Amino acid sequence: MQPDEVMHWLKEEDEQTLEVLWKKADETRREYVGNDIHLRGIIEISNYCVRLCHYCGINAANKNIKRYLMTVEEIMNGVKEIESYGYGTVVLQAGEDARIKADWIAEIIKRIKNETSLSVTLSLGERKKSELELWKKSGADRYLLKIETGNQRLFKSIHPTASKFEWSNRIQILFFLLETGYETGSGIMVGIPGQTYNDILTDIFLFKKLGVHMLGIGPFLPHPETSLGKEFFEGLEDKDQVPNTELMTYKVNALTRIICKNINIPTTTALATINSKTGRELGLKRGANVIMPNFTPIKYRQFYEIYPGRICLEEFGTKVNNMIHERIKSVDREIGYGPGSAIQNKAQKCI
Ligand code: 5AD
Repeated sequence: MQPDEVMHWLKEEDEQTLEVLWKKADETRREYVGNDIHLRGIIEISNYCVRLCHYCGINAANKNIKRYLMTVEEIMNGVKEIESYGYGTVVLQAGEDARIKADWIAEIIKRIKNETSLSVTLSLGERKKSELELWKKSGADRYLLKIETGNQRLFKSIHPTASKFEWSNRIQILFFLLETGYETGSGIMVGIPGQTYNDILTDIFLFKKLGVHMLGIGPFLPHPETSLGKEFFEGLEDKDQVPNTELMTYKVNALTRIICKNINIPTTTALATINSKTGRELGLKRGANVIMPNFTPIKYRQFYEIYPGRICLEEFGTKVNNMIHERIKSVDREIGYGPGSAIQNKAQKCI
């Protein structure tokens, strides 16, 4: 698909016409990654964060949330539970903070690899090259780092502390992760204030150039404890402004599937947050092939409030597992067992 066609679809609003796009995304998904839906259990191990990202509810300036760091035993309990449901992957996610020591993570990775057959995905933000290397050597399989937007001016405007750190160029970090041997995931938010249709178009083709293996695309959801959340409510009237809607998120996901083809695409929790009834299913019918159910202990989950109104705050264990199985059945797909790696699917990255 050529850029002008992608732009045309981004602006298409007619529901019937959009059926053509959904069908094409669904066919591409079936042809390149099959019918299996891979399940990744996510554990949000800490909500401490030193950053001041203008969109994120766990930014360092938010004094209204309780901060937590899980213990190794709590993490391992979650890991064992994820394995007991037959999932192939655990994702360890956290804000960025010095409390999360490189050696501590390395030991946890080794324990998971010794005691289970799970693949390990890390989503711990922008960390030092030496740390990323250590974790790879310790057995980590994948790393997830969203670029949020490929527009560097917009990126800088919403990540104010970036320049104080060793590097702030997430695209460079992604290349480093790929070189280091990680199966690498990235993604963007859709509808960031100031994000244009052209930004999204550029991002979709940037994904293709980067050659990442996974892309998570969710709507921007304003959080009242952030400056962007407050500004956003004042309204941004601009015909170039991409809306942060459910429909726009489906379009970006579907077009990413069509352009990048053999990658993994999760149906994001942010999408399921705007449409808790059918958001996950529609995501799966419009290009996605991965679900990431939450296994953070209930007592901590409410504090990982990156955006408000996160779903499944009360659901845990068997309940989550049954709900996910029902949803997969309802879209007539299969559960994928094993690591569900894009590499294993013979993906030639998305180039
Ligand atoms: N709206 C939507 N997504 C958000 N994230 C963080 N804050 C928000 C928000 N307000 C997403 C970002 C980040 C991931 C952990 O959560 O994409 O990478």
